[in-house]
Amino acid sequence: MTREELKVAAVAMLDRAYVPYSHFPVGAALECADGTVFTGCNIENAAYSPTICAERCAVAKAVSEGHRDFVRIAVAGRCEDFCVPCAVCRQVLREFAPDLEIICLNGAGASRTFTLSELLPHSFGPEFLGHTTP
Ligand code: THU
Repeated sequence: MTREELKVAAVAMLDRAYVPYSHFPVGAALECADGTVFTGCNIENAAYSPTICAERCAVAKAVSEGHRDFVRIAVAGRCEDFCVPCAVCRQVLREFAPDLEIICLNGAGASRTFTLSELLPHSFGPEFLGHTTP
């Protein structure tokens, strides 16, 4: 999938977001090394804290289907700023892909690309516990 196609996949997920509380939809499209793409959207909850972000929704779908080799993710919002992943999602992505490319879109469809290490410098990961990155 091209970067443009990945962005389109993330934007398409905005309509799937369940956001009755924040009214802030987020869509994500996570690409694996073999080209498989897993999408996600944020899913809110009346108890607030069980809310799952779009990025972690995509990661859960991928890992539960046997995929961990992530190469890039597109994250879309309808906001003015580029929709960057929250700190929790950065840490979850870091577990599997310390060199991930992160394409952040704003509501106008413009994008800015970061590496995970730019967004989460000096990060904690599996190797601290004697594990290699999966
Ligand atoms: N949200 C995401 O889906 N991803 C992020 O990385 C940032 C925040 C969601 C959570 C919540 O449903 C809404 O955006 C407002 O915080």
